[in-house]
Amino acid sequence: IPVQPFDLVVFGGTGDLARRKILPALFRRYCAGQMGDAARVIGAARAEMDDTAYRDFVRGAITEFGADTACAPDQLEAFLGQIGYVTLDAQGAQGWDALKARLGDADRIRAFYFSVGPGLFADLAARIETHGLAGPDTRVVVEKPFGRDLASARSLNADLAKHFDETQIYRIDHYLGKETVQNLMAIRFGNMLFEPLWNSQYVDHIQITVAESGGVGSRGDYYDKAGAMRDMMQNHIMQLLCLTAMEPPAKYDPHAVRDEKLKVIRALGPVEPGDVVRGQYEGTDSLPGYLEEVGDDSSRTESFVALKARIGNWRWAGTPFYLRTGKRLRARASEIAVVFKDAPHSIFGADAGRHRNILTIRLQPNEGIEMGVTIKEPGPGGMRLVDVPLDMTFSEALGPEAGDIPDAYERLIMDVIRGDQTLFMRGDEVEAAWEWTDPIIEAWDAPGAEPCPYATGSSGPDDALALMHRDGRRWREIR
Ligand code: BG6
Repeated sequence: IPVQPFDLVVFGGTGDLARRKILPALFRRYCAGQMGDAARVIGAARAEMDDTAYRDFVRGAITEFGADTACAPDQLEAFLGQIGYVTLDAQGAQGWDALKARLGDADRIRAFYFSVGPGLFADLAARIETHGLAGPDTRVVVEKPFGRDLASARSLNADLAKHFDETQIYRIDHYLGKETVQNLMAIRFGNMLFEPLWNSQYVDHIQITVAESGGVGSRGDYYDKAGAMRDMMQNHIMQLLCLTAMEPPAKYDPHAVRDEKLKVIRALGPVEPGDVVRGQYEGTDSLPGYLEEVGDDSSRTESFVALKARIGNWRWAGTPFYLRTGKRLRARASEIAVVFKDAPHSIFGADAGRHRNILTIRLQPNEGIEMGVTIKEPGPGGMRLVDVPLDMTFSEALGPEAGDIPDAYERLIMDVIRGDQTLFMRGDEVEAAWEWTDPIIEAWDAPGAEPCPYATGSSGPDDALALMHRDGRRWREIR
């Protein structure tokens, strides 16, 4: 179903995110018939370029990052016909009149995508208003990182609030656009099976892992100032935690869903310094280590973090959430594992061993759900038990007609046009997440607090394993 006609201005239109994600996502939505022939996309950046040169840039981006067999070859040229470019200075006067002339005064949905560093958000927001570019159907989309601590997030929120209403602000966390992340809500609240057991009475603990096999690569400049805690934990993992732990919202709408997520963040207890482990990857014969990659021998930035979080509410008191994320780990594998408690009494005696149900939601790759079920080991040897997986891979279960999983940005950009904020972070939610994160990061400023080295291709530092061992638990293997 096509969305209504819209104009989308991409500030930072020549940047990396536009090239890798935003433009290819728009193209795929165009091919799917959703973007519609009346939509216009206007790239805006400092580079001097005309429409033709920008279209060449977009063609290159799509060839590199948007190859899609569902698109007919002539669709690319038709899509490019809907793209324009304005040379613009976010902090000066250049280009704004030209942008205004381009937009005209058509009564259409207008979205401004701030695909730039947060340092420019305030300038852009102010100029959109002073040049009279905003109307009631105007939305602004802002990318992470949304600040680097509570104070900076508050000030970004305040800057945006001077010019836009909260209902016009779309803060992106691309994890919320992932199909499997949305599936978390479908699994929890679309089935009767899970929710009655989804609490501390039945759940021993929950593990959330977002493991990456790649290193920081060319993003060292940004990453070294952020680290895993700011880059992944405060946002992506926090969102996974919220969707896993929240109460059922009364309906699937932006207010109800975000209210429930916010309650989870506010219920998070402080994390004791002994409950956090951070690490930094070492190099191999062929790959540089973290310090080498960022070009700073003295960097104490973490490329891995694992911690034990506690949620102080009736549902979760006593059930810890172990969270971990890192780069250069054994595999790219993200999952949420709900580890249930032991059965209260084993009728099979001690020989049967210890068996636990584990529900694993695989977020990527190989998206699916696996439920570990205990059954009898076949054979005449008595009543011996064995754990087997009830395994469902979504692509197999849904069949080929379900198509490829769309990229998160496709879903999120279309939601902006539709005016649906459910999968975007509200200002108070982002601030609450920083409020919880800040003391953890501040504790690392203390002298002597160094990240532990870990080998490329491992599961992270040994101390992270110890974090669970001392509680009589263990991490699931990263594979
Ligand atoms: C980004 C982080 O937000 O998410 C990156 O800045 C990280 O460091 C990326 O690699 C992971 O996203 P995905 O979609 O590949 O899991």
